[in-house]
Amino acid sequence: MPPAHPLATLDPGTCPRLALPEIQALAADDMAAVDALIRRRLASDVVLVNQVAEHIVAAGGKRLRPMLLLLAARAFGHGGADAHQLAAVIEFIHTATLLHDDVVDESDLRRGRKTANALWGNAPSVLVGDFLYSRSFQLMVELDRIEVMRVLADTTNAIAEGEVLQLLHVRNPDTDEAAYLRVIERKTAVLFAAATRLGTFLAGADADTQQRLHAYGLNLGYAFQIADDVLDYSADEAALGKHLGDDLAEGKATLPLIHAMAHSDPATRARLRDIVERADADALPEVIASIRAQDSLEYSREHARRYALAAVASLDGLADNAAMQALRGLAHYAVSRDH
Ligand code: IPE
Ligand code: IPE
Ligand code: MG
Ligand code: MG
Repeated sequence: MPPAHPLATLDPGTCPRLALPEIQALAADDMAAVDALIRRRLASDVVLVNQVAEHIVAAGGKRLRPMLLLLAARAFGHGGADAHQLAAVIEFIHTATLLHDDVVDESDLRRGRKTANALWGNAPSVLVGDFLYSRSFQLMVELDRIEVMRVLADTTNAIAEGEVLQLLHVRNPDTDEAAYLRVIERKTAVLFAAATRLGTFLAGADADTQQRLHAYGLNLGYAFQIADDVLDYSADEAALGKHLGDDLAEGKATLPLIHAMAHSDPATRARLRDIVERADADALPEVIASIRAQDSLEYSREHARRYALAAVASLDGLADNAAMQALRGLAHYAVSRDH
Protein backbone atom coordinates (compact mmCIF):
# COMPACT_ATOMS: atom_id res chain seq x y z
CA MET A 1 0.00 0.00 0.00
CA PRO A 2 1.21 3.53 -0.68
CA PRO A 3 1.98 5.71 2.32
CA ALA A 4 -0.78 7.83 3.82
CA HIS A 5 -1.09 11.08 1.93
CA PRO A 6 -3.53 13.57 3.42
CA LEU A 7 -5.24 15.83 0.96
CA ALA A 8 -3.38 19.08 0.56
CA THR A 9 -4.65 22.08 2.47
CA LEU A 10 -7.01 24.77 1.27
CA ASP A 11 -5.75 28.24 0.73
CA PRO A 12 -6.54 29.81 4.10
CA GLY A 13 -7.97 32.86 2.35
CA THR A 14 -8.80 36.02 4.21
CA CYS A 15 -11.79 34.91 6.28
CA PRO A 16 -11.10 33.50 9.73
CA ARG A 17 -11.83 29.83 10.23
CA LEU A 18 -11.56 27.46 13.16
CA ALA A 19 -9.41 24.31 13.30
CA LEU A 20 -11.08 20.94 13.93
CA PRO A 21 -10.38 20.73 17.71
CA GLU A 22 -11.85 24.21 18.14
CA ILE A 23 -14.90 23.24 16.07
CA GLN A 24 -15.38 20.10 18.15
CA ALA A 25 -15.10 22.11 21.36
CA LEU A 26 -17.61 24.64 20.09
CA ALA A 27 -20.12 21.94 19.16
CA ALA A 28 -19.36 19.56 22.07
CA ASP A 29 -22.44 20.21 24.23
CA ASP A 30 -24.81 20.12 21.28
CA MET A 31 -23.20 16.96 19.92
CA ALA A 32 -23.43 15.25 23.32
CA ALA A 33 -27.15 16.05 23.38
CA VAL A 34 -27.55 14.67 19.85
CA ASP A 35 -25.63 11.54 20.73
CA ALA A 36 -27.81 10.92 23.78
CA LEU A 37 -30.90 11.40 21.62
CA ILE A 38 -29.60 9.00 18.99
CA ARG A 39 -28.92 6.31 21.58
CA ARG A 40 -32.30 6.79 23.24
CA ARG A 41 -34.27 6.70 20.00
CA LEU A 42 -32.42 3.72 18.56
CA ALA A 43 -34.28 1.37 20.86
CA SER A 44 -36.53 -1.39 19.60
CA ASP A 45 -37.96 -4.43 21.35
CA VAL A 46 -36.74 -6.56 18.45
CA VAL A 47 -33.36 -7.80 19.65
CA LEU A 48 -31.70 -8.07 16.24
CA VAL A 49 -32.62 -4.46 15.43
CA ASN A 50 -30.87 -3.31 18.59
CA GLN A 51 -27.81 -5.46 17.95
CA VAL A 52 -27.24 -4.33 14.39
CA ALA A 53 -28.12 -0.66 14.95
CA GLU A 54 -26.05 -0.48 18.12
CA HIS A 55 -23.10 -2.08 16.31
CA ILE A 56 -22.86 0.64 13.68
CA VAL A 57 -23.91 3.57 15.86
CA ALA A 58 -21.59 2.70 18.76
CA ALA A 59 -18.67 2.57 16.30
CA GLY A 60 -19.02 6.34 16.16
CA GLY A 61 -18.26 7.91 12.84
CA LYS A 62 -17.38 11.52 12.40
CA ARG A 63 -20.95 12.80 12.97
CA LEU A 64 -20.20 15.49 10.44
CA ARG A 65 -23.72 15.95 9.06
CA PRO A 66 -25.43 16.57 12.42
CA MET A 67 -22.59 18.92 13.32
CA LEU A 68 -23.22 20.88 10.13
CA LEU A 69 -26.88 21.24 10.95
CA LEU A 70 -26.17 22.43 14.48
CA LEU A 71 -23.54 24.91 13.35
CA ALA A 72 -25.78 26.29 10.60
CA ALA A 73 -28.53 26.80 13.19
CA ARG A 74 -26.09 28.34 15.69
CA ALA A 75 -24.65 30.69 13.08
CA PHE A 76 -28.09 32.32 12.92
CA GLY A 77 -28.72 32.34 16.64
CA HIS A 78 -30.66 29.11 17.09
CA GLY A 79 -29.78 26.41 19.65
CA GLY A 80 -33.13 24.78 20.39
CA ALA A 81 -33.96 21.15 21.11
CA ASP A 82 -35.56 20.89 17.66
CA ALA A 83 -32.07 21.33 16.15
CA HIS A 84 -30.82 18.38 18.23
CA GLN A 85 -33.72 16.26 17.06
CA LEU A 86 -33.25 17.19 13.42
CA ALA A 87 -29.51 16.54 13.69
CA ALA A 88 -30.33 13.05 14.97
CA VAL A 89 -32.72 12.57 12.03
CA ILE A 90 -29.94 13.42 9.58
CA GLU A 91 -27.50 11.02 11.25
CA PHE A 92 -30.11 8.23 11.24
CA ILE A 93 -30.64 8.75 7.51
CA HIS A 94 -26.88 8.72 6.93
CA THR A 95 -26.47 5.56 9.01
CA ALA A 96 -29.26 3.81 7.12
CA THR A 97 -27.54 4.60 3.82
CA LEU A 98 -24.27 3.19 5.18
CA LEU A 99 -25.91 -0.11 6.11
CA HIS A 100 -27.39 -0.34 2.62
CA ASP A 101 -24.22 0.90 0.93
CA ASP A 102 -22.05 -1.78 2.53
CA VAL A 103 -24.40 -4.47 1.24
CA VAL A 104 -24.35 -3.04 -2.28
CA ASP A 105 -20.58 -2.49 -2.18
CA GLU A 106 -19.94 -5.84 -0.46
CA SER A 107 -17.74 -4.00 2.02
CA ASP A 108 -16.63 -5.78 5.16
CA LEU A 109 -14.93 -3.00 7.11
CA ARG A 110 -16.49 0.27 8.31
CA ARG A 111 -15.60 2.58 11.19
CA GLY A 112 -12.77 0.22 12.05
CA ARG A 113 -15.17 -2.68 12.61
CA LYS A 114 -16.49 -5.56 10.58
CA THR A 115 -19.59 -4.35 8.74
CA ALA A 116 -23.07 -5.48 9.75
CA ASN A 117 -23.38 -7.40 6.50
CA ALA A 118 -20.13 -9.23 7.23
CA LEU A 119 -21.31 -10.14 10.73
CA TRP A 120 -25.04 -10.78 10.27
CA GLY A 121 -25.50 -11.03 6.50
CA ASN A 122 -27.20 -8.90 3.89
CA ALA A 123 -30.83 -9.34 4.91
CA PRO A 124 -30.47 -8.02 8.48
CA SER A 125 -28.38 -5.09 7.21
CA VAL A 126 -30.96 -4.06 4.62
CA LEU A 127 -33.86 -4.48 7.02
CA VAL A 128 -32.23 -2.63 9.91
CA GLY A 129 -31.28 0.08 7.41
CA ASP A 130 -35.02 0.33 6.66
CA PHE A 131 -35.70 0.47 10.40
CA LEU A 132 -33.30 3.42 10.78
CA TYR A 133 -34.81 5.17 7.77
CA SER A 134 -38.33 4.85 9.10
CA ARG A 135 -37.23 5.74 12.65
CA SER A 136 -35.80 8.94 11.20
CA PHE A 137 -39.23 9.67 9.68
CA GLN A 138 -40.88 9.15 13.07
CA LEU A 139 -38.50 11.64 14.66
CA MET A 140 -38.97 14.06 11.78
CA VAL A 141 -42.77 13.97 11.96
CA GLU A 142 -42.63 14.78 15.67
CA LEU A 143 -41.22 18.17 14.69
CA ASP A 144 -44.44 18.82 12.76
CA ARG A 145 -42.90 21.22 10.23
CA ILE A 146 -44.04 20.63 6.65
CA GLU A 147 -40.96 22.35 5.17
CA VAL A 148 -38.67 19.96 7.04
CA MET A 149 -40.67 17.00 5.73
CA ARG A 150 -40.57 18.37 2.20
CA VAL A 151 -36.79 18.87 2.22
CA LEU A 152 -36.09 15.45 3.72
CA ALA A 153 -38.58 13.63 1.48
CA ASP A 154 -36.87 15.17 -1.57
CA THR A 155 -33.42 14.48 -0.14
CA THR A 156 -33.93 10.81 0.70
CA ASN A 157 -35.56 10.28 -2.68
CA ALA A 158 -32.56 11.85 -4.43
CA ILE A 159 -30.14 9.70 -2.41
CA ALA A 160 -31.97 6.57 -3.52
CA GLU A 161 -31.77 7.77 -7.14
CA GLY A 162 -28.06 8.46 -6.71
CA GLU A 163 -27.39 4.95 -5.46
CA VAL A 164 -29.35 3.43 -8.37
CA LEU A 165 -27.64 5.74 -10.86
CA GLN A 166 -24.31 4.61 -9.49
CA LEU A 167 -25.35 1.00 -9.92
CA LEU A 168 -25.97 1.68 -13.61
CA HIS A 169 -22.35 2.78 -13.95
CA VAL A 170 -20.82 -0.23 -12.23
CA ARG A 171 -18.22 -1.92 -14.45
CA ASN A 172 -18.75 0.77 -17.06
CA PRO A 173 -15.39 2.14 -18.24
CA ASP A 174 -17.16 4.90 -20.20
CA THR A 175 -18.27 6.56 -16.96
CA ASP A 176 -17.02 10.11 -17.35
CA GLU A 177 -16.55 13.03 -15.03
CA ALA A 178 -20.00 14.47 -15.71
CA ALA A 179 -21.68 11.16 -14.91
CA TYR A 180 -19.54 10.79 -11.79
CA LEU A 181 -20.55 14.27 -10.58
CA ARG A 182 -24.23 13.52 -11.21
CA VAL A 183 -23.96 10.46 -8.99
CA ILE A 184 -22.12 12.11 -6.11
CA GLU A 185 -24.46 15.08 -6.06
CA ARG A 186 -27.36 12.77 -5.32
CA LYS A 187 -25.77 10.08 -3.22
CA THR A 188 -23.80 12.44 -0.96
CA ALA A 189 -24.06 16.19 -1.55
CA VAL A 190 -27.83 16.56 -1.19
CA LEU A 191 -27.76 15.30 2.40
CA PHE A 192 -25.06 17.81 3.33
CA ALA A 193 -27.17 20.52 1.68
CA ALA A 194 -30.29 19.43 3.56
CA ALA A 195 -28.39 19.54 6.86
CA THR A 196 -27.15 23.09 6.45
CA ARG A 197 -30.35 24.39 4.84
CA LEU A 198 -32.52 22.95 7.61
CA GLY A 199 -30.23 24.39 10.30
CA THR A 200 -30.86 27.88 8.93
CA PHE A 201 -34.55 27.10 8.42
CA LEU A 202 -34.95 26.25 12.12
CA ALA A 203 -33.14 29.49 12.94
CA GLY A 204 -35.77 31.38 10.96
CA ALA A 205 -33.22 32.78 8.53
CA ASP A 206 -34.51 34.40 5.33
CA ALA A 207 -34.85 32.52 2.03
CA ASP A 208 -31.62 33.92 0.57
CA THR A 209 -29.62 32.80 3.61
CA GLN A 210 -31.19 29.34 3.48
CA GLN A 211 -30.26 29.14 -0.19
CA ARG A 212 -26.66 30.14 0.53
CA LEU A 213 -26.32 27.55 3.27
CA HIS A 214 -27.83 25.03 0.86
CA ALA A 215 -25.13 25.94 -1.68
CA TYR A 216 -22.48 25.68 1.03
CA GLY A 217 -23.66 22.18 1.99
CA LEU A 218 -23.96 21.01 -1.60
CA ASN A 219 -20.44 22.14 -2.53
CA LEU A 220 -19.07 20.72 0.68
CA GLY A 221 -20.75 17.41 -0.08
CA TYR A 222 -19.10 17.23 -3.49
CA ALA A 223 -15.72 18.05 -1.92
CA PHE A 224 -16.28 15.48 0.81
CA GLN A 225 -17.15 12.64 -1.59
CA ILE A 226 -14.28 13.40 -3.96
CA ALA A 227 -11.97 13.37 -0.94
CA ASP A 228 -13.49 10.03 0.09
CA ASP A 229 -12.79 8.65 -3.36
CA VAL A 230 -9.17 9.84 -3.18
CA LEU A 231 -8.79 8.24 0.25
CA ASP A 232 -10.09 4.95 -1.17
CA TYR A 233 -6.85 4.80 -3.17
CA SER A 234 -4.44 6.51 -0.83
CA ALA A 235 -5.37 6.43 2.86
CA ASP A 236 -3.83 4.56 5.70
CA GLU A 237 -6.35 1.74 6.20
CA ALA A 238 -6.20 1.79 9.98
CA ALA A 239 -6.91 5.52 10.08
CA LEU A 240 -9.64 5.25 7.43
CA GLY A 241 -11.40 2.36 9.18
CA LYS A 242 -12.41 1.03 5.75
CA HIS A 243 -10.59 -1.18 3.27
CA LEU A 244 -8.74 0.56 0.48
CA GLY A 245 -9.69 -0.36 -3.06
CA ASP A 246 -13.37 -1.00 -2.27
CA ASP A 247 -14.42 1.16 -5.21
CA LEU A 248 -12.31 -0.77 -7.71
CA ALA A 249 -13.46 -4.09 -6.25
CA GLU A 250 -17.01 -2.93 -6.95
CA GLY A 251 -16.18 -1.86 -10.52
CA LYS A 252 -16.87 1.77 -9.52
CA ALA A 253 -14.92 4.27 -11.60
CA THR A 254 -14.41 7.29 -9.35
CA LEU A 255 -12.65 10.54 -10.24
CA PRO A 256 -9.02 9.36 -9.81
CA LEU A 257 -9.57 6.36 -12.08
CA ILE A 258 -11.71 8.31 -14.57
CA HIS A 259 -8.88 10.82 -14.89
CA ALA A 260 -6.24 8.13 -15.23
CA MET A 261 -8.25 6.33 -17.94
CA ALA A 262 -8.72 9.55 -19.88
CA HIS A 263 -5.04 10.48 -19.83
CA SER A 264 -3.13 7.20 -20.08
CA ASP A 265 -1.56 5.96 -23.33
CA PRO A 266 -3.86 3.75 -25.45
CA ALA A 267 -2.44 0.44 -24.20
CA THR A 268 -2.72 1.41 -20.53
CA ARG A 269 -6.19 2.82 -21.14
CA ALA A 270 -7.33 -0.45 -22.68
CA ARG A 271 -5.90 -2.32 -19.71
CA LEU A 272 -7.64 -0.01 -17.19
CA ARG A 273 -10.93 -0.32 -19.05
CA ASP A 274 -10.64 -4.09 -18.88
CA ILE A 275 -9.93 -3.91 -15.14
CA VAL A 276 -13.05 -1.79 -14.58
CA GLU A 277 -15.20 -4.11 -16.72
CA ARG A 278 -14.06 -7.09 -14.68
CA ALA A 279 -14.01 -5.20 -11.33
CA ASP A 280 -10.61 -6.77 -10.88
CA ALA A 281 -9.66 -6.05 -7.25
CA ASP A 282 -6.34 -7.88 -7.67
CA ALA A 283 -5.24 -5.21 -10.12
CA LEU A 284 -5.28 -2.54 -7.40
CA PRO A 285 -1.47 -2.03 -7.35
CA GLU A 286 -1.47 -1.66 -11.12
CA VAL A 287 -4.34 0.83 -11.01
CA ILE A 288 -2.59 2.82 -8.29
CA ALA A 289 0.54 2.93 -10.45
CA SER A 290 -1.46 4.34 -13.39
CA ILE A 291 -3.21 6.83 -11.15
CA ARG A 292 0.18 7.92 -9.83
CA ALA A 293 1.63 8.18 -13.33
CA GLN A 294 -1.14 10.56 -14.38
CA ASP A 295 -1.09 12.54 -11.11
CA SER A 296 -4.78 11.71 -10.86
CA LEU A 297 -4.95 11.92 -7.08
CA GLU A 298 -3.61 15.46 -7.15
CA TYR A 299 -6.04 16.30 -9.97
CA SER A 300 -8.89 14.97 -7.84
CA ARG A 301 -7.69 16.76 -4.70
CA GLU A 302 -7.62 19.99 -6.68
CA HIS A 303 -11.20 19.33 -7.79
CA ALA A 304 -12.22 18.75 -4.17
CA ARG A 305 -10.47 21.93 -3.09
CA ARG A 306 -12.36 23.93 -5.70
CA TYR A 307 -15.67 22.68 -4.35
CA ALA A 308 -14.55 23.45 -0.80
CA LEU A 309 -13.64 26.97 -1.86
CA ALA A 310 -17.03 27.35 -3.55
CA ALA A 311 -18.63 26.21 -0.29
CA VAL A 312 -16.76 28.89 1.65
CA ALA A 313 -17.59 31.51 -1.00
CA SER A 314 -21.32 30.78 -0.53
CA LEU A 315 -20.98 32.19 3.00
CA ASP A 316 -19.46 35.48 1.87
CA GLY A 317 -21.20 38.51 3.28
CA LEU A 318 -23.16 36.61 5.92
CA ALA A 319 -22.82 37.51 9.59
CA ASP A 320 -19.48 36.42 11.00
CA ASN A 321 -19.40 34.53 14.28
CA ALA A 322 -17.77 31.43 15.78
CA ALA A 323 -20.26 29.01 14.21
CA MET A 324 -19.67 30.59 10.80
CA GLN A 325 -15.92 30.26 11.28
CA ALA A 326 -16.50 26.63 12.21
CA LEU A 327 -18.40 26.08 8.93
CA ARG A 328 -15.46 27.55 7.04
CA GLY A 329 -13.13 25.32 9.03
CA LEU A 330 -15.17 22.24 8.11
CA ALA A 331 -14.77 23.04 4.43
CA HIS A 332 -11.04 22.93 4.99
CA TYR A 333 -11.33 19.74 7.03
CA ALA A 334 -13.38 17.97 4.33
CA VAL A 335 -10.44 18.10 1.95
CA SER A 336 -7.56 17.73 4.42
CA ARG A 337 -8.82 14.80 6.49
CA ASP A 338 -7.17 11.39 6.58
CA HIS A 339 -10.36 9.45 7.34
C1 IPE B 1 -19.21 7.93 4.43
O1 IPE B 1 -19.48 9.10 5.15
C2 IPE B 1 -20.02 7.93 3.18
C3 IPE B 1 -19.63 9.00 2.25
C4 IPE B 1 -20.46 9.91 1.83
C5 IPE B 1 -18.29 9.04 1.74
P1 IPE B 1 -18.61 9.53 6.39
O2 IPE B 1 -17.16 9.53 6.01
O3 IPE B 1 -19.16 10.79 6.93
O4 IPE B 1 -18.86 8.33 7.41
P2 IPE B 1 -18.81 8.31 9.00
O5 IPE B 1 -20.19 8.63 9.47
O6 IPE B 1 -17.80 9.29 9.47
O7 IPE B 1 -18.43 6.89 9.34
C1 IPE C 1 -20.94 6.93 -0.30
O1 IPE C 1 -20.14 6.27 -1.20
C2 IPE C 1 -22.20 6.16 -0.12
C3 IPE C 1 -23.31 6.85 0.52
C4 IPE C 1 -23.68 8.06 0.27
C5 IPE C 1 -24.08 6.04 1.46
P1 IPE C 1 -19.03 5.23 -0.82
O2 IPE C 1 -19.45 3.85 -1.15
O3 IPE C 1 -17.75 5.70 -1.38
O4 IPE C 1 -18.95 5.34 0.76
P2 IPE C 1 -17.95 4.48 1.62
O5 IPE C 1 -16.56 4.72 1.10
O6 IPE C 1 -18.39 3.06 1.50
O7 IPE C 1 -18.12 5.05 3.00
MG1 MG D 1 -19.28 2.08 -0.01
MG1 MG E 1 -15.83 5.46 -0.45
